[in-house]
Amino acid sequence: MRAAGVANVVGFDLSPAMLTRAGATLAYTELHQGSLLEPLPFAPGRFAAAVSVGVFTCGHVGPAAFAVLAGSVAAGGHVTLSFRSDAIDSLGYAVEMDRLERAGTWQLVERTEPAPLIVEQGKAVDMIVMTWRVL
Ligand SMILES: C[S@@+](CC[C@H](N)C(=O)[O-])C[C@H]1O[C@@H](n2cnc3c(N)ncnc32)[C@H](O)[C@@H]1O
Repeated sequence: MRAAGVANVVGFDLSPAMLTRAGATLAYTELHQGSLLEPLPFAPGRFAAAVSVGVFTCGHVGPAAFAVLAGSVAAGGHVTLSFRSDAIDSLGYAVEMDRLERAGTWQLVERTEPAPLIVEQGKAVDMIVMTWRVL
């Protein structure tokens, strides 16, 4: 994101160790520790966009965080999230992303085709990336 010209990149993660690793990249203007399943320590609508990679997956963050993230982005901004394609239905993400669309919170603007992510116990798992515009 910095290479693409984004001047201010604010990082947020539950894990202090992950934040230390993030800090070592020198890409972030701020780093904060906390949970996406609780109110965020940011003013509502503070951000032009929220981007999350590898967080909406088994053992990490459930769909309740979608509304939290959308609330941190200004109207007209974007939320971009990566998913394991096999988790979208099974972990309840699809139901919540559709609920937020019907509620007028956000509107889907892009859903990528599945692309190879990992091989798990001999089985290929794909990822997809979805982007919504916050309304
Ligand atoms: C698979 S790692 C991906 C890390 C990083 N985004 C990347 O792509 O390398 C999942 C991350 O989700 C974070 N995480 C799990 N539960 C969380 C929560 N409730 N709130 C915020 N971050 C959480 C973990 O600490 C971990 O850093």
